[in-house]
Amino acid sequence: MTRTAVEYAHHQRIALVTIDNPPVNAINLAVRNRLMELVREIDLDPAIDAAVLMGAGKVFVGGADINEFGRPVEAPTLPEVIARIEGARKPWVAAVHGVALGGGLEITLGCRYRIASPDAKLGLPEVNLGIIPGAGGTQRLPRLIGLAEAIPVIAEMKTLAAKAALALGLVDSVIEGDRTAAAVAFAQTVLAKPLPALCIERPLTDLPSETWSEVGRRIEKAAKGNPAPHRAIEAIRHGVGHGIEAGLKQERAIFLELRGSREAAALRHLFFAERAAMRPARLREIAPLPLNRAGIVGGGTMGVGIAAALRGAGLPVILVERDAEAVQRTGEALENLLAARARRSGDPATAALLMRDVTLTTSIDDLKDCDLVVEAVFEDLAVKRDVFARLDAGCRADAILATNTSYLDPRRLADGLRDPGRLLGIHFFSPAHIMKLLEIVPTPDTRPEVLATAFSLAQRLGKIPVQSGICEGFIGNRILRRYRGEAEALWRSGIAIEAIDGAMRAFGFAMGPFEVQDLAGLDISYLQREAARARGETVPEAPGDILVRAGRKGQKSGGGWYDYVSGDRTPRVSPETARLLSSLLNERREMASAEIAERLVAAMADEGGAIIAEGIAAGPNEVDLVEVHGYGFPRWKGGPMFYRNQQAS
Ligand code: COA
Ligand code: NAD
Repeated sequence: MTRTAVEYAHHQRIALVTIDNPPVNAINLAVRNRLMELVREIDLDPAIDAAVLMGAGKVFVGGADINEFGRPVEAPTLPEVIARIEGARKPWVAAVHGVALGGGLEITLGCRYRIASPDAKLGLPEVNLGIIPGAGGTQRLPRLIGLAEAIPVIAEMKTLAAKAALALGLVDSVIEGDRTAAAVAFAQTVLAKPLPALCIERPLTDLPSETWSEVGRRIEKAAKGNPAPHRAIEAIRHGVGHGIEAGLKQERAIFLELRGSREAAALRHLFFAERAAMRPARLREIAPLPLNRAGIVGGGTMGVGIAAALRGAGLPVILVERDAEAVQRTGEALENLLAARARRSGDPATAALLMRDVTLTTSIDDLKDCDLVVEAVFEDLAVKRDVFARLDAGCRADAILATNTSYLDPRRLADGLRDPGRLLGIHFFSPAHIMKLLEIVPTPDTRPEVLATAFSLAQRLGKIPVQSGICEGFIGNRILRRYRGEAEALWRSGIAIEAIDGAMRAFGFAMGPFEVQDLAGLDISYLQREAARARGETVPEAPGDILVRAGRKGQKSGGGWYDYVSGDRTPRVSPETARLLSSLLNERREMASAEIAERLVAAMADEGGAIIAEGIAAGPNEVDLVEVHGYGFPRWKGGPMFYRNQQAS
């Protein structure tokens, strides 16, 4: 028998309509067509009194089918299906389990009743895709639960768990036990009672104007360059001011406009790229190794962040530092970091709980039972090789050894190990407990199950893994170098650094390239250049050399490219920098902000193209994910490769 997108059955006088469109029951044209047919059939069937709408498998409905968003709209549309359910002669009961997201929640709002399993989560994440709910969500939800409660769901990605949804009246009952039986029983019970008003029939109370202003401020801060949250508010307010019919019309118009926008296309691109990144096709058949206990060597900036990330994912951690003093410093840093995070999440008690499964030690032998050890010591080949030799001797033979190196060749770290097949690079980004990117760098010897385990670790940490081949700086830092080089070339050609930084902020980065260098410290790359010079390599003098030699290391020394006043991170144009670097500069000239950004993003895309051509990155999606999740490239622009493609089309 062939499977249909919507299954139909009945239990006594209750129709059971089950959306069955794996993996997440996304509502596509086939589902919409079949639902239209079924509403009609059920209306006409004298043997049926009510209908229950359910989802097959793990979830109710994960949303409208995002694959259709890039194509012309085909009837029947979701608003038409929902209006048809709403106008049905028999009452419909939506029985939600797993998730009801986007179009999945909107369809429930056309039903007379909503019930939910205890595990259910309901939300409207459309703004994350650069669109707004387009099938009545901005109009029906506020009429059901009130504006103040609906706004965070519609415009700010708030998801409601079953219990919260019950308290707000979004669901009428939380059902335990067998879902189908409970839903049928619910439908039978309510048949004896008068029908509640439909969402569209319910009154709506406006909010005071100061509350709207507060909402506007909140959204302005969070939305950054994404227009969708503002437009969602516009749709809601239109319905408040002009009634449900006008509101639905306006919502649909905004939805269709945004659906065709560049921002939405970029966000859809990332949605699919992120999901594909979690499960590379070549690793699908390879089982990851068990990960129950992790070790870290080196408790500096990265080691502490990595420890917090691993603890956050529930892994016990053993961290090795050089001496008692370093152990003490690392312990305090980790405690402070976990405490700050716990305070922010509103659950201060978790910090102590997380700290309980951290062992701090000076003995590398304490790592003997670990399944994985991440090395995060100084970026120095000899120091790292010494650490790996000791790990190789002391760790279990099947333990995975990972390096967090930014630039060193992992082959040189694996060289000489008893089993080089267990080593790979797992490159975290700073701060490691926050940044989503993990560059995963296998050597030619790394065994597939070791690689698969690194990907499963990323999933467990809630991070985005991107495999990189071996080259100087891997994918991300290699592009960063090119980007900075291009920014510096523009500056040498006479464009002011504040114009360049301003252009990149206007493009959507949180900071421009010179501001970032001041924040990170100019001394790190200066020391790298000096080390290369000491090795006899020819490294031309960089402006950073002049600045560091003059004591200007960035924010930490009160000045770098810019000047800073104590306690204030605002960059101020520096006459001192201008004087120090005057010999490198051409005559000042102007360039339009957009042109500056185009130049710098084109340089990133060029380098990305070279990286792909060399086989270092599998394709443009990988480059885009690295830039968006590791380097602050604006999400709604999709990454340098997608952006360049979009500009060209
Ligand atoms: N349309 C089309 N495909 C979708 C989809 C949607 N709305 N939601 C998920 N998928 C696909 C994913 O691309 C993935 O495909 P793949 O296996 O080919 O990579 C698959 O479903 C599983 O998704 P994934 O996110 O990996 O599964 P999960 O179990 O972790 O999470 C959801 C399931 C539904 C919670 C999650 O996918 C999600 O949040 N989806 C988006 C919801 C959304 O934004 N809806 C609004 C649209 S109106
Ligand atoms: P860091 O100097 O802050 O910390 C290094 C720590 O390693 C120090 O606490 C030191 O005491 C300890 N250490 C040195 N030798 C040791 C040994 N033999 N045994 C135990 N501990 C030892 O450096 P970091 O910034 O945390 O960088 C660590 C690694 O991560 C480097 O390879 C770096 O390139 C890489 N990395 C850094 C960043 C970043 O932004 N800082 C980002 C990604 C990767």
